[in-house]
Amino acid sequence: MITETTVPATPAAPATKRSRPDFFSAAEARVDQWRQFCAVVRSWQAAAARGASEDAPFAQAIAVFGELAPLEAFFAFPGTRLLAAVEQALAERNVGVCVRLAQHLSTALLTGTYRYDLSAWDPLQEEGTSPAELLPPDMQGSAGHKPYFETLVVTPVDPSQWERARHDLRRLRRAEDVFTYEAVQVGTFEDAVIAAICNHNVQAVVIRDGFEYRSRHDVPLLREFLSRHLGTDEASTAPGALATALARGIKRYRPELDIYLLTDRAVEALAGSDEAAPLRRVFHDVEELMELHLAILDGVNDRYETPFFNNLKKYAQRPIGTFHALPIARGKSVFRSNWIRDMGHFYGTNLFLAESSATTGGLDSLLEPTGNIKKAQDMMARAFGAKRAFFGTNGTSTSNKIVVNALCQPGDIVIVDRNCHKSHHYGLVLAGAQPYYVEAYPLTQYSMYGAVPLKTIKQALFDCKAQGILDRVRMVDLTNCTFDGHMYNPTRVMEECLAIKPDLVFLWDEAWFGFARFNAFHRRRTAMAAAATLSARYRDPAYRSQYAAFAAKAGKLEAANRTLLDTHLLPDPDKVRIRVYQTCSTHKSMSALRQGSQILVWDDDFHIVEGNFQEAFLAHTSTSPNQQIIASLDLARRQMELEGYELTMRAVEIALRIRREINTHPLISKYFHIATPAEMVPAAYRASGIEDYGQPHSTWRELLDAWDHDEFALDPTRLTLLCGASGLDGTQFKGLLAERFDIQINKTSRNSVLLQTNINNTRSDAALLIKALADLAREIDQRLAHGGATERAAFDARVRSLVTDVPDLPNFSRFHDAFRDDASGASNEGHMREAFFMSYNAASSEYIKLNSPDIDKRLKNGAPLVSANFVIPYPPGFPIMVPGQVITADTITFMRKLDVKEIHGYQAAHGLKLLKPSQLESKGKTQVAR
Ligand SMILES: Cc1ncc(COP(=O)(O)O)c(C=O)c1O
Repeated sequence: MITETTVPATPAAPATKRSRPDFFSAAEARVDQWRQFCAVVRSWQAAAARGASEDAPFAQAIAVFGELAPLEAFFAFPGTRLLAAVEQALAERNVGVCVRLAQHLSTALLTGTYRYDLSAWDPLQEEGTSPAELLPPDMQGSAGHKPYFETLVVTPVDPSQWERARHDLRRLRRAEDVFTYEAVQVGTFEDAVIAAICNHNVQAVVIRDGFEYRSRHDVPLLREFLSRHLGTDEASTAPGALATALARGIKRYRPELDIYLLTDRAVEALAGSDEAAPLRRVFHDVEELMELHLAILDGVNDRYETPFFNNLKKYAQRPIGTFHALPIARGKSVFRSNWIRDMGHFYGTNLFLAESSATTGGLDSLLEPTGNIKKAQDMMARAFGAKRAFFGTNGTSTSNKIVVNALCQPGDIVIVDRNCHKSHHYGLVLAGAQPYYVEAYPLTQYSMYGAVPLKTIKQALFDCKAQGILDRVRMVDLTNCTFDGHMYNPTRVMEECLAIKPDLVFLWDEAWFGFARFNAFHRRRTAMAAAATLSARYRDPAYRSQYAAFAAKAGKLEAANRTLLDTHLLPDPDKVRIRVYQTCSTHKSMSALRQGSQILVWDDDFHIVEGNFQEAFLAHTSTSPNQQIIASLDLARRQMELEGYELTMRAVEIALRIRREINTHPLISKYFHIATPAEMVPAAYRASGIEDYGQPHSTWRELLDAWDHDEFALDPTRLTLLCGASGLDGTQFKGLLAERFDIQINKTSRNSVLLQTNINNTRSDAALLIKALADLAREIDQRLAHGGATERAAFDARVRSLVTDVPDLPNFSRFHDAFRDDASGASNEGHMREAFFMSYNAASSEYIKLNSPDIDKRLKNGAPLVSANFVIPYPPGFPIMVPGQVITADTITFMRKLDVKEIHGYQAAHGLKLLKPSQLESKGKTQVAR
């Protein structure tokens, strides 16, 4: 964590040494600090009113202000005028003015009124009222104002001139401008990076050549961050290259920002160079201030634009007669109805006006987009760092099937996490591809799985190689991050797999992880970021020598029959293809309507498979895609490009606060605990040794290192709340939270529930949860205190059964030999589709009750039990049986111990659906004959 910083209160003030929260959570901490300042000055005022000594509260006010003021230099609001007014009031010991200003400032910051209300910037104004923007839109009246942002200006000009420069920029504002912005100036490279990190309002950066590198602030850990993670340091950056190095560094951290360079160098030559790649435009010094102003607005507008949504709004306003099949379009069947008028009231007029099954008249066709949907998809690709993007309106369940069907055909082998979402399994059945199931590491104590270790995946590829079937391995299909928050290191996984088979296709199911692109920490663990990293790496001439050294070493190991499992493998740069598909449930982590999903593509060979992709898209996508879902995908992208950084950083901060509060709360932590990274990721996959987030466990620096290098890391926004110690199982606990506290949570396991924070959560939500846990913990405490020994014994037994007596998780056993091409091989792929369809013939299958002794007899020495279908208990949600799988005693034990109600593919009244041994035998005979 960048904890020790020394920054001056204002650009002109002397530096002071102090501790502060790290830059990464500075924005969240900022409002708290202003609130604290408010509280302190109010207690000073109370002391004055009582006639008590003012010295102590006054000294405290000075101290708190000294803490918070330095960071304010990196924000446009409150700005020098308001800060100077506070400083003056403190210098004059004028408590009345201090209280008024403190309230005014902290309210403006908390509510964001300074973005549009000029009086918020005026030290003489009273504290405003709560703005309408905090209410839902239909309660806001006609409030509407231009979106506000800040432009960071990095300048060599003396700070005494900054106010004038800000004024000059303000003079360029015109009524036609769609947005309004304020400038924040900094004078050095390092200050520019601090501002980009902690000021979420920054949307554009203007760099004027000629500034210094080193901040006057004492920021040793920032320096380390710069060199390790942004790849820049003072020593290796030539003074002439400072501006472009800064642009590169900022782009790496916040790729969405527009960066402009003002220079008196030969701009024509610079504009065409690689150095200028991160820049949106290069201007010849300040000769074109109006052009710069317009370019800044234009850059933000490029992200603000929502081509499909804009057209849909226009469409809704037009008087259109509809003669197609969608009675609710235009709403007349609803608004005039005697019986369903409340539908119109509830959903509002626009929903109906914007409904249409048309693909013309300003709309576009999702099935063959050529107009605004095509444009919106291209913008989605840009925003997420992909080469192509496709909207999905049937959830990621369908997006996954589209990708599997597009890339795989009968005979292909797909190495797939058995614990993945069922859409992958069904996709494989449809495609006729053969799954080679690989296992995630188990977290038996929580009745859940982690993620699949790289060695397991490599072993699967080596097995296929040994059997001579590597050429049939088409795809590696993994879930990143998993439901429970395990993040892979996709760069490392793909690099090593590509070394074994250089044209492998990867499907990364990032259903939960779409937001990750916009978070400076998570991004490194996304598939698209990994594709970009690998693509750049293999194009770099320096990689060739690295590869040559590796190839020589690997050749020797292979010649000596030594395993390459422990060696970091590197692919051949002349053969490797980057073929990466990432699916995201936009609706799960961004502001899209339910079922809004996206497929992101970085495939060097997409031109070869594009036709198949279109075919698969058409096969799976409804011919009546929902216009509102498409529009919401367009809007979700706009939001993430403009405020994704702020929102995702805040979601992480809220998650960290919840983690800290629950795990350190003396009462709550007796019965509830949030699983830490150390508990969710075994040490073998956590080389960094990082145990938990935040002080005293780890610093941000250590966390970043861990996320760069560890095999698996835990997404902090996914919180596994262990509730077994409270005597409640996951399902009971989920019900209790919903019924008594109006808290909805995600999935459950035997002794845990999964909570997640996302961009929708506020600190009030966190408080609601913590209060509920405290109430429950207090009740348990009291029940135990008053219940005597019997109550205690019953409670202990219940806790033991939930926490200690947990069933082992059954691994995938094997496909029955009738579904294997080579039953003796080490690889485990099988013809699952054949097994799946075999059961369609009623004569091929039979049912046996789970508790019937026949099951035990068959397990002991009878014909193998072979599943006829998928059996997926919720929780945990992974298939414990797939069609054609031989059922082992482990699976039966697990099934018998399962105490969940929802088991897809299994009806207790009928029993287990099995393929008849006679059918399997005859199939085996035909195979031999074949
Ligand atoms: C890993 C994973 N992939 C895909 C899906 C399906 O996504 P959707 O609900 O968007 O269809 C889910 C749903 O929970 C999931 O957990």
